[in-house]
Amino acid sequence: MRFDVLTLFPDMFGVVRDLGVTGRGHAQGRWALRAWNPRDYTHDVHRTVDDRPYGGGPGMVMLAQPLEDTLAAVRADRAATGAPPARVALLSPTGRRFDQAAAGELAQGGGLILVCGRYEGVDQRFIDRCVDEEWSLGDFVLSGGELAAMAMIDATVRLLPGVLNDAESALQDSFHRNVSGLLDSPHYTRPEVHASLAVPAPLMSGHHARIQRWRRDQSLALTAARRPELIEQARQRGELSKEDERVLAALRDVSAQADTSAS
Ligand SMILES: C[S@@+](CC[C@H](N)C(=O)[O-])C[C@H]1O[C@@H](n2cnc3c(N)ncnc32)[C@H](O)[C@@H]1O
Repeated sequence: MRFDVLTLFPDMFGVVRDLGVTGRGHAQGRWALRAWNPRDYTHDVHRTVDDRPYGGGPGMVMLAQPLEDTLAAVRADRAATGAPPARVALLSPTGRRFDQAAAGELAQGGGLILVCGRYEGVDQRFIDRCVDEEWSLGDFVLSGGELAAMAMIDATVRLLPGVLNDAESALQDSFHRNVSGLLDSPHYTRPEVHASLAVPAPLMSGHHARIQRWRRDQSLALTAARRPELIEQARQRGELSKEDERVLAALRDVSAQADTSAS
């Protein structure tokens, strides 16, 4: 898998390329990254990559031409090195929300060409001519697409075979289909008692089925409290067992009783 990133701040990508599990996977050759600076594809002495917006208003807009010239260089390099053609994805708050399912799909492919906007954004004609898809990290505005691109790369690369030390761990993570798309359960490690708080008894039982049930119940409770729509989605996919429904009904009873005694 290879990511090419168009960015005015190529140095930022050392974080995903060199550190942590993604850094180890990169060093092992499980994925590749090249960052391309549109300033290197300008032809004026100031290496201009932005200009004022037509119609007035604050801020600057990224010029289409340096981005198109950078993209041509990326495509030529991919062809010369035998990398398969890749789709072009713009990071944008107006894009489709990136999520775990999207990371899973991306992990099945050969990679992406990611375009990081800065300033007020990118000249629309570049988007119309060159961009295949737009991805948002969430309903907030970042100063640039780099952090969003790194989040996409990290979430994708950790799903590649061999990148995580224990492949099981990704299967247990929040949102994974293996856990019905629910939120992850709490985790504990040594010591058994910390600040007078003991590790929950089921985790100390050594009884696999009991531990699994406790984790599932915790996931159900946390998801019902924080992301009830994920419970409904799991239900509609037929991924909740009778025992899950019994636990959820008990949680609803407890919450109804709490409401009654508060009023
Ligand atoms: C300051 S933002 C521009 C915001 C734009 N004027 C708007 O309101 O939609 C600069 C760049 O940061 C990136 N960006 C900002 N927020 C983002 C988000 N939530 N997801 C993905 N990229 C984002 C985009 O590449 C964007 O072009």
